[in-house]
Amino acid sequence: MIVTPDYTRHPKAYEILSSAAFVGRRRRLFTEVLRIADIRPDDRVLDLGCGTGYLTALAASAGARALGIDASEPMIAEARRLHPAARFRVERAESFVAPAGSFDVVVSSLLFQTLTADLSDAVAANALQLLGPGGRIVIVALHPPLPGHLAASPDQAAYALALAEFTRIHTRRIDPLVICTSARTGRDEAA
Ligand SMILES: C[S@@+](CC[C@H](N)C(=O)[O-])C[C@H]1O[C@@H](n2cnc3c(N)ncnc32)[C@H](O)[C@@H]1O
Repeated sequence: MIVTPDYTRHPKAYEILSSAAFVGRRRRLFTEVLRIADIRPDDRVLDLGCGTGYLTALAASAGARALGIDASEPMIAEARRLHPAARFRVERAESFVAPAGSFDVVVSSLLFQTLTADLSDAVAANALQLLGPGGRIVIVALHPPLPGHLAASPDQAAYALALAEFTRIHTRRIDPLVICTSARTGRDEAA
């Protein structure tokens, strides 16, 4: 996948490159992401920086009530075209407003590593307040990153989650090209 400053204006090309980049492994890979997120039927799932919507739609097909948001109108238009049954909105991850605890799970694929550290921190803080008790977050990153990625290290996502006071932060490799950072809100179901 090629990440350039204006790649979001070319969502059809992005989708072709994105599916090709994982050489037939995309479904298995993102199914593993949903397994790590411990997605259950009817979970309210928010996909931050959903792009063309693959992960949002996969979560929805697993029975979740999934919403994908992205700052790019062309990306959201393509997501809606490719996955008409799924829900998408044009929103920024750091400023998306919903009542506290509106979601059980936040997922985010290839967004954090395109952000500055300040923006990563703001997105993580917003994710924390959007999640309810027992909330989970899973962040997917290419590792090594691509040229043009702002975050040189996947630690940036883990630091952002720690600053926001997520707990049980864990980073693992799930593919030769992909690592996943998962965490919990720290507020258990009984809290
Ligand atoms: C590399 S793409 C990843 C898309 C998709 N999640 C995937 O895995 O293929 C990053 C996406 O994040 C979006 N994005 C960048 N900054 C954002 C922000 N602050 N809030 C929401 N979306 C953002 C871009 O428009 C782009 O669609």
